[in-house]
Amino acid sequence: MNRNAAKIKIIAYSLSTLITITTAGCNLTRKSEDFEKKQDITFSQIEPEVVIDVSVKEEEYTEEIDDPENKSEEIIEEKEKFIKEPKEEVIEEKPEVIEDIKEPKEEVIEEKPEVVEDIKEPKEEVIEEKPEVVDNNQQIINALRSEYYNDLIQYDYLRYFVAEKIERYVDYKLEHPDKSFIDVITHVNIGLDKSFYTNIKIIDNPHCLTALVNKYNAVTEDFVPQNLQAISSQYASGTQLLIQFAKEAYENMAYAASKEGIKLTALSTYRSYDSQYKNYWSKVTVSRPQWHVDLFNARPGHSEHTLGLAVDINSFDQSFENTKAFKWLIENAHKYGFVLRYPKGKSHITGYNYEPWHYRFLGEELAKLVNESGLTYDEYYVRYIKEYEKVKEVTEEKQLVLNK
Ligand code: DAL
Ligand code: ZN
Repeated sequence: MNRNAAKIKIIAYSLSTLITITTAGCNLTRKSEDFEKKQDITFSQIEPEVVIDVSVKEEEYTEEIDDPENKSEEIIEEKEKFIKEPKEEVIEEKPEVIEDIKEPKEEVIEEKPEVVEDIKEPKEEVIEEKPEVVDNNQQIINALRSEYYNDLIQYDYLRYFVAEKIERYVDYKLEHPDKSFIDVITHVNIGLDKSFYTNIKIIDNPHCLTALVNKYNAVTEDFVPQNLQAISSQYASGTQLLIQFAKEAYENMAYAASKEGIKLTALSTYRSYDSQYKNYWSKVTVSRPQWHVDLFNARPGHSEHTLGLAVDINSFDQSFENTKAFKWLIENAHKYGFVLRYPKGKSHITGYNYEPWHYRFLGEELAKLVNESGLTYDEYYVRYIKEYEKVKEVTEEKQLVLNK
């Protein structure tokens, strides 16, 4: 494949303008782009299981405190069902791609005359172009497998492309050919090409408002947020703690809602590592396997509640979405720095069932951006926060070398 042809095809995906924001001591740089809000995602390996799981309500289980080390074989078997299957199919597909790479230049040379001919009959060509979309994907995969992939990280479109993950992108794309290239990179950056709770990393910025914890990222058992403060009893059930910024923002939000006749009550906020441990393991019982609990409760160290940045509001029932309070929150929460963290239909990304009550504090500026993007925070983070900064560093290092 001609290098310029690869560049053009990849850059064609890119629409972006650089914006720099600063949030609570964390410098962020993000790309504002024409977000592709409605990319249909078919996650055939996981979604059907999640749909089945959703039909079983959490309340159907009566809790018994369970010794975590006393897990039955049944639980382990069920857990294995929940875990995604490894890539036997992918291994079989690889040789096809390798064959494609062997003759890259000849393919491009043959394509050029076709483009010239197409210009002569523009209307008919639109219909004929559809299969070329698939070809483009294959060509991008080929390009990424080729000697040029190290250069590709310098292109705007690929700011969240991580060269070290090239094989994972390619394998995931082959496994999910219908996914857009952007989603392939995003999902692999999140870690979704591996089973939940594998490749777990301890985050290095747990005190930052941008901190991401999910099924691949955690805090250590000794982590305690700084400056936890109790929410005013007007807006909370019992003693509810959040870090200062989040507490003040929540009170402002609850006050604003009350002016419109909406009552917001914080039901659960900060939970220490230990309390999350007890909460989680108390729900795993002989009759309720761990994979099911995992759909509703974060494992210890993986909960946003342990960051002191999450608040569960008004109800733990999904019917909360039918209330005025929920509708008010959807329209207004981001103005106060909160986002809905586990939206409907995103279980294949977040790993959790829909939680209309769980809001995450990100600060006003970032919450507005995340809300506007239509992405989950997992997606937003790997596109515009973590991986972007990483790639930017690499690029700057390269620039220094080039300028010497
Ligand atoms: N229910 C959410 C996922 C938590 O346990 O943090
Ligand atoms: Zn919650």
